[in-house]
Amino acid sequence: MNKIKCLVTAGPTREYFDPVRFISNPSSGKTGWHIAAAARNIGWDVSMVIGPSQLPKLDGVQTFPVTSAQEMLEACRPIFRQSHILIMSAAVSDVRPKYPLPQKAKKADIDLHPELERTPDILKILSSEKENQILVGFAAETENVIESAKKKLADKNLDCIVANAVGIENCGFASDYNKIDMILKRGEIVDFKAARKDVLARRLVDFLAARFFA
Ligand code: CTP
Repeated sequence: MNKIKCLVTAGPTREYFDPVRFISNPSSGKTGWHIAAAARNIGWDVSMVIGPSQLPKLDGVQTFPVTSAQEMLEACRPIFRQSHILIMSAAVSDVRPKYPLPQKAKKADIDLHPELERTPDILKILSSEKENQILVGFAAETENVIESAKKKLADKNLDCIVANAVGIENCGFASDYNKIDMILKRGEIVDFKAARKDVLARRLVDFLAARFFA
């Protein structure tokens, strides 16, 4: 078989009110970064679209830095078309200011009730455009983790979803550790156990390689 082409998204997105103020979340990008490294290490051809993050460049991974959800969608689209698998681990902001300002607003002029609008659901859009790609989603949940993840799996028409319990102390956002369960389309659940994010990334990529490309 030819080299597996893999698109990984990582990190948060930023949705700016004005040049110095934005909506975002505490994602560090580590989960996606480690997944990209693990996929590269098993010989896959990896592209990574990553939101603002402090992580170092990954040798051997084509990296596309972006800022907003809209930019992430636009960067992903052409790469997705050429990919065998998408691993959507980015923590995309769900909303953005409807009327961002080109200049910094003075404190006295800040709109205290700014109008927001939803950002594009990147995974749902790519899913609707998919041909034969395998789609792997993430579900960051603080409660009803498995049930909510199952709903997203069905709603976004995914092959599998990584349920990520972000409510546990020292796990999830910005931590080096995580606890994940993999849920497959037909209902099978694989417990990856809590571990360091680099260890989990290897387990995840090995699992995907064995399940979808063996
Ligand atoms: N996602 C996306 N585009 C968005 C929001 C989320 O592509 N605008 C992707 C995430 O990268 C993840 C999956 O959709 O792979 C689920 O994201 P999550 O934030 O857990 O769920 P939401 O779809 O945003 O739903 P909710 O906030 O209601 O839990």
